[in-house]
Amino acid sequence: MTQSVLIIGGSSRIGQAIAQQCSAEGAVVSVISRQAAADDVTWFHYQDALQSEDSAQLCIEQALQHQPDTIFICNGVLHDANGMPEKTIRQLDSAQLAQRLHSNVIIPAQYLRSLFRYLTRTLQVKVLVLSAKVGSISDNHLGGWYSYRMSKAALNMLVKNLSLEVGRLNPSASIVSVHPGTTDTPLSEPFQSNLPHGQLQTAEQTAQRLLKVCAGLTPEVSGALLNWDGSVLPF
Ligand SMILES: NC(=O)c1ccc[n+]([C@@H]2O[C@H](COP(=O)([O-])OP(=O)(O)OC[C@H]3O[C@@H](n4cnc5c(N)ncnc54)[C@H](OP(=O)(O)O)[C@@H]3O)[C@@H](O)[C@H]2O)c1
Repeated sequence: MTQSVLIIGGSSRIGQAIAQQCSAEGAVVSVISRQAAADDVTWFHYQDALQSEDSAQLCIEQALQHQPDTIFICNGVLHDANGMPEKTIRQLDSAQLAQRLHSNVIIPAQYLRSLFRYLTRTLQVKVLVLSAKVGSISDNHLGGWYSYRMSKAALNMLVKNLSLEVGRLNPSASIVSVHPGTTDTPLSEPFQSNLPHGQLQTAEQTAQRLLKVCAGLTPEVSGALLNWDGSVLPF
């Protein structure tokens, strides 16, 4: 069982639900976020105002004092005030693509780089990076959502690469990307009306599933993209 968990991107609806469940089970919970976190967790303030590299490094240095055995990275953007996901390449906007790559790949990469030494030295450490099934290239039969799909595919490569590098120095580490399943959060809200009945999970259900995946995680699957039920998805 998780004794100490670090949740990066902790204001995400899924991240908050993970924090609540871990806290209820008695774990020490640390959260890195731009937004203030609940009272029963330790909050490290990620500041957009600082250079994001400096802010990520500072937050990680402070958060590692709690010696997490499990780390979730929940940062991710599908749409925002600047734009919705593209239906066609004719809607592709370079500035929006750069923003999605920043939120979905570069920020997680900055955190993971700051965590590298810790990951190589901590026995049985687990890292779960929230990705998306739509980032699977071989599973893409629909097209669309260019920026989000490209950024999640790149995120999966980041995780695979890191798992190999860390695994050489610490074979007991497990580092995976995970598709949480479609979950009722601000991220999925504009797309929920077309979903088949029963496909939408609450953030609490998703947190429960992810914590189950986490409990069963072993180094043998390190580098993989996992589904919310723990099965391996194709890249
Ligand atoms: N909901 C779904 O159906 C679904 C499906 C597949 C995959 N996912 C993935 O699951 C993860 C969590 O999703 P969610 O639905 O819980 O999301 P959410 O509630 O919309 O939260 C978004 C997260 O992204 C972070 N973020 C946004 N813009 C950022 C920026 N400029 N700089 C740094 N961080 C930024 C926020 O960090 P702060 O804490 O700092 O605010 C927050 O943690 C994401 O990676 C998402 O892609 C979700």
